[in-house]
Amino acid sequence: MNQVKQLSKERLEEFEEILTHFPNKKAALLPTLRLVEEEFGYVDTEGCRVAAKLLDLSPAYVYGVLTFYTHYKREWHGKYRIMVCGTLMCAISKSLEIVAHLKNKLGIEVGERTADGKFSLEKVECLASCGTAPAMQINDDYYENLTIQKVDEILESLK
Ligand code: FES
Repeated sequence: MNQVKQLSKERLEEFEEILTHFPNKKAALLPTLRLVEEEFGYVDTEGCRVAAKLLDLSPAYVYGVLTFYTHYKREWHGKYRIMVCGTLMCAISKSLEIVAHLKNKLGIEVGERTADGKFSLEKVECLASCGTAPAMQINDDYYENLTIQKVDEILESLK
């Protein structure tokens, strides 16, 4: 039988404290997902069940909220989480060519991770760097005014 995930005693205390800042349990969903992420290193469907149980919500609702946001670490993300902006300013500055190049170079599709677990690739909405499009984010770092050559240099520096 699978071990059911649970938050540690310390995180459960943190959860109780978080609840005091919100009018109801449902409103505390985002910080609760953050606690799950901190506890397990990512949020997967089991993590959604943990949050759902704590907040008296359905796991499907929690999963829907989780997948709406891009800022939670997911179980399939690589060591380097590559997020390329696909919104208008970046798209007209050829960010989709950069996505195609990365897919080819890494041998993965958008939403996948390389076999060695090193890189995952996502196409995301505006990264708020429209003035320096095309832009991408890798983990917490921003890369702007991208060209294919620049992307190759960045990948090389991460190997
Ligand atoms: S459109 Fe790409 S950063 Fe805003």
